[in-house]
Amino acid sequence: MAMMKAMVIEGADGVSRLVPRDLPIPVCGPSDLLVRVAAAGVNRADLRLSAEHFGGNEHRVAGGEFAGEVVAAGADVTAFAPGDRVMALAPAGYAEYAIVDERLAVRVPDGFDTATAAGLPAWYMTAHNALVTVGALGQGETVLVNGATAGVGIATIQLARLLGASQVIGVARSQPKLVRLAEIGLDTALVSEDALAENVMAATRGRGADLVIDLVGGGALTANLSSAAIGGRMIAVGRLGGSTDVLDINLLAFRRITLRGVTFRSRSLEERSAVARAFAADVLPAFQRGQLEPVIDRFFPLEQAAEAHRHVAANAHFGKTLLAVTP
Ligand SMILES: NC(=O)c1ccc[n+]([C@@H]2O[C@H](COP(=O)([O-])OP(=O)(O)OC[C@H]3O[C@@H](n4cnc5c(N)ncnc54)[C@H](OP(=O)(O)O)[C@@H]3O)[C@@H](O)[C@H]2O)c1
Repeated sequence: MAMMKAMVIEGADGVSRLVPRDLPIPVCGPSDLLVRVAAAGVNRADLRLSAEHFGGNEHRVAGGEFAGEVVAAGADVTAFAPGDRVMALAPAGYAEYAIVDERLAVRVPDGFDTATAAGLPAWYMTAHNALVTVGALGQGETVLVNGATAGVGIATIQLARLLGASQVIGVARSQPKLVRLAEIGLDTALVSEDALAENVMAATRGRGADLVIDLVGGGALTANLSSAAIGGRMIAVGRLGGSTDVLDINLLAFRRITLRGVTFRSRSLEERSAVARAFAADVLPAFQRGQLEPVIDRFFPLEQAAEAHRHVAANAHFGKTLLAVTP
């Protein structure tokens, strides 16, 4: 039986750890691609080391996004063939080989590095979905990103700028990282300890942000709602600060705010496929044209996945942390 190296989750949720194992190379189902993984992205959600989070794959292989070369395709596959380079938001990427349903795979653009592409799906699909599909960003609108130094925050700032926002305001707790965001198009940097709503109102001539993309969650709700324009929208994307807060219904009503949440976990395969297709159509061409640049923190070797997790958990990164898997 052909074998591969993989990092698997061992132990119960909460006390689990990443361990290197030799596993059988997975076999394609009818609509699947078998991908030789070049690199895997490390995401915040990976740190939970919850096998359930990774799609309940048989061997509990970790990882949530990867890119590589198709080496085999199931009998019903129509859009891809061996030799194609693909990226995907899909489980079990911390391994030399991974399976993805072709409906979730996205072609790596010509001339774009395969390993770097591994860092695009989670952040840019999330940011595009929140800003455009759910947030309905309009030309000339003001966007506020709370948790701006997070990867999804970086992607949101880049896309908001690309897609016609007139002003992009970022809020974060670390001034040195906020300074780096100016290089990727942030207009106004605010430190979260400061009086957020007053500062947003001052930066927007008293109007507030048309669209708030929130990655902080717990503890940030009142400040976010107070920073929104009358009739504005807020999309709850992340929970870096926790998942509970108190909703001031009076504030919500007075400012007539539309509040929506997003996650991939409750999306069907067809819904996730639609997010991937929208990303491929609207975002990837901008990478190909050089209008967008991926922000890469560093690569760790696959076998140092636990160290990569500690690096992200310590917030020592700015941009994507990746695992280099095969050359
Ligand atoms: N809804 C979805 O579909 C979806 C998809 C992807 C991710 N997410 C969620 O979005 C959030 C961000 O994910 P990510 O992968 O972008 O994270 P990430 O890159 O790992 O974000 C880390 C950065 O966030 C900042 N941070 C950490 N805790 C914070 C807090 N309590 N308040 C403010 N800033 C904080 C830190 O910056 P400083 O050092 O500057 O503080 C850190 O560098 C997570 O909650 C994740 O689960 C949701």
